[in-house]
This record gives sequence, C-alpha cells and structure tokens, in this order.
Amino acid sequence: MQMQSSSCPPRPKSPPMARSGLIPSSLADGLVFTAGAFLALLLFLGLYSFFSPTPIPNRLFSFSPSFSSSSSRIDDTYDPPDETFYDDPTLTYTIDKPMSNWDEKRRHWLKLHPSFSGGKERILMVSGSQPYPCRSYHGDHILLRSFKNKADYCRLHGIELFYNTALLNPSMDFFWAKIPVIRAAMLAHPEAEWIWWVDSDAIITDMDFSLPLDRYRGHNMVVNGWPQLIYEKKSWCSLNAGVFLIRNSQWAFDFMDEWASMGPQSPDYEKWGKLQTSTFKDKMFPNSDDQSGLAYLILTGKGGWRDKIYLENEYYFQGYFAEIVGRLDEISEQYVEEEQKGPAVLRRRHAEGVFLSYAKERNTQHGKEKGVDTGPMGWRRPFVTHFTGCQPCSGDRNKVYSADNCTMGMYKALNFADDQVLRIYGFRHASLASADVQPLPFDYPRSEG
Ligand SMILES: *[C@@H]1O[C@H](CO)[C@@H](O)[C@H](O)[C@H]1NC(C)=O
Repeated sequence: MQMQSSSCPPRPKSPPMARSGLIPSSLADGLVFTAGAFLALLLFLGLYSFFSPTPIPNRLFSFSPSFSSSSSRIDDTYDPPDETFYDDPTLTYTIDKPMSNWDEKRRHWLKLHPSFSGGKERILMVSGSQPYPCRSYHGDHILLRSFKNKADYCRLHGIELFYNTALLNPSMDFFWAKIPVIRAAMLAHPEAEWIWWVDSDAIITDMDFSLPLDRYRGHNMVVNGWPQLIYEKKSWCSLNAGVFLIRNSQWAFDFMDEWASMGPQSPDYEKWGKLQTSTFKDKMFPNSDDQSGLAYLILTGKGGWRDKIYLENEYYFQGYFAEIVGRLDEISEQYVEEEQKGPAVLRRRHAEGVFLSYAKERNTQHGKEKGVDTGPMGWRRPFVTHFTGCQPCSGDRNKVYSADNCTMGMYKALNFADDQVLRIYGFRHASLASADVQPLPFDYPRSEG
C-alpha cells in the first residue's frame, strides 16, 4: 500500500500557454507571474455567487491584514452542547454510505463556532504514507524529509496539516487510499474550506508561493491538467491526480462517491479498468486507477462534474520532476543574484512569524525581473515538484528513471526547499547535493561576494 501517485510516463511538454498580464499582482495575492487571459476573464467576470459556507460579511475581514494567519483568534476551548452532525448516529466517516445536506450541516456547525468562520478560506493539507516501514533503503528517510517539507510550508502559511499513515479502507490501497482519508478529513475539519491533497512524493519547492484561491472561487476542485491532452490526445497523463484541492462541500462527497465507484472496493472495478484502458491508449496497466478515472469523468462529462473542476496549468501546481530537477541549481543562483542587487529588504533578517510579509516582498521584487515566469522556461521557483513514478518508499520506480534521477533528485529538491526555511534560522546548505550547512553572514547574499 502506498499513497503516492501512479507512475505515469513523462508527459509531453505542456502546450504553449496564452499569457498576459491581466491579473495585477496586488489582486493575485503575491502571484508574480502572469495569468492567461481566459483565467483572468473568469476571475473578472465575477464568479462570486457560488456556494460558500463563509458568510459574505466575514469574507470582508479577509482584506484586513490582521487575519493573514488563519490559525489566530480561534477559540478552541469552546464546543457548545447544541446538536450537530457529530451527534447523528447514522452519519459515518467511512465511504460506504452517502452523505446528504453536508453544506447545511457544515454551515450550522460554523454558526455555532463563530471564531472558526471569519478570515480567509482555511486550507487543510492532507497527505500520508503506508502503515509499515518502507522497503527501500532511503524510503523512510525521504518520507520523513518530505513530511518535514510539508510541515515547514504549512507552518509558514498558517495551514493545518493532517498526515495519515492508516489504511482507512483496506481494499482501497495504492492511489485509491486518499479518497477515504479526504472524506474523513472533511468531517473532522468543517472549518476548512479546502482540502489540499499532496502525495507524499510531492515536494513544495517555493515556500514564498501562496495558492491563488481567488481564482478558484467558481470551482470545487483544482487539479494540474491540460485540456488538449484530455480532449484531443486522450492521455491518462493529461492531468495529475497526486496533488489537488477539493472544496469541503456536498459536491465533494458526491463527486468522490462517483470517483470511488471505479475503485477496487467496487463491484465495477474490472469494468472500469477495461473502459479506462480502451479510452486512454497510453495507459499501460489493466487496473482501474484514480488518475484515469478522473480524466475519464472530465473527458466524457459524465455526471457533470467537470464544470466545477479547474484545470490549473499556469504555474507548477504540481510539476513533473524531470522537467525541474536539472534546473534547481540555476534557479537557486538566479535568486541569489537578484537578492544581491535588489533592495536591502530582501536581505533583512526577520522572525519566522513574519515570513509572509517578506515572501510578498520577494515575490514583488523577483516579479519585476526578466524571465521570472514559472514553467520550464522561467527561473521562478517551481511551486511543487512531484516525483511521479519514483516510488521512494517501495523503491519500485518506473524503469525509465535511474536510482540517481529519483533519490538524488529528491534530496536536491528537499535541500532546495530547506534552504528557504533554514535561511530564517541563519543557515544554508553548502550545495543542493550536500547535507552540510553553513551559517549565513549579515546582509547575505550581498556580503557573500
Ligand atoms: C536521469 O539522469 C541522467 C544522467 O544524469 C540524465 O541524463 C537524464 O536526463 C535523467 N532523467 C530524468 C528523467 O531526469
């Protein structure tokens, strides 16, 4: 059992993206790269009328800087005796029974717990790995480092993290294991507007980046994907199901019921395997998998889910590691160079608690430079580097990758991310390939040379 992504062969280079500067960076909440005209239009056409359990007046508070950390001001000692969905003996955390009226139930709970309902939309990051030790030599250490990487990002961004190591539905293993976990997490976290599933082998490589949630207002799920590859190429690698956002909503329960109906616990499992393999010619194994299932639902429009699924490809919502790892040294140097010649604020030491204010500063400054675009051609740090097919825990990596591609690649990405955190603590790795660290002098990196 593992909770990493299915191994997908290298996908074709992403189709050229329409780019424009329609989203002012002040609106895009620290986003420094440009967004496609289409996305910008969606944003500006005002998709504000969709379901939101957070009452509109509370939303207004999100413009107040004092709410920038979602973990503040929560009254976690208060749970009134009023009945909620938690007191309903017929409600189950398991996936075998459908949920109904969840939006109402959630709204009711939030009303009883007003300290949880103000401020910006809360995110719960959910990740996990197997209940047993890893078979591969580096496996458990890499999982620990990847977990630390997620914990770092969450601490810096005021996001809660739930890391699960139990198989909640024994027949839903491998990449199917996340569905029952996400379901349970939605119930345990009615205050979270979004569940952010991140595979254990996906590493956050830009600590400065905040998810552009405003973009996703009209949607209930966000996944990295390319419409051309879904509708024209009909590839099972047209999207990646290893990292996604899903809105804590009745929609999510219903959608996951349909998605899970293709899983190994379902009587239709075999039928779905056949249907997926005949639909996606590049799918190389007969069993039904979550990623092909999701691509199938989008391709066919079955169930009408796709209208609420946002295919994000304007930045590395999750990026294919082979496209990234070889560039990390260069990206790292580029940041140092920009910070050497940039304003002093980029080099100012600061407390970890005010990290986001400096992240914003860096995003603005770096955004002014040439070639900053995210994606394979730019030097902007990739947000998420995903080691799809590396299977660090089992070691059963896709044969197209060498052990070095995977293991060294992961350590490099982890150190790349760790440098951004260690900097707050006054240190940095001697090189991306090194476990050794060096103290940083005052006014770094200007003082460096
Ligand atoms: C794997 O490593 C080899 C040798 O360094 C390199 O040429 C190749 O591009 C790498 N492959 C991937 C997928 O990163």
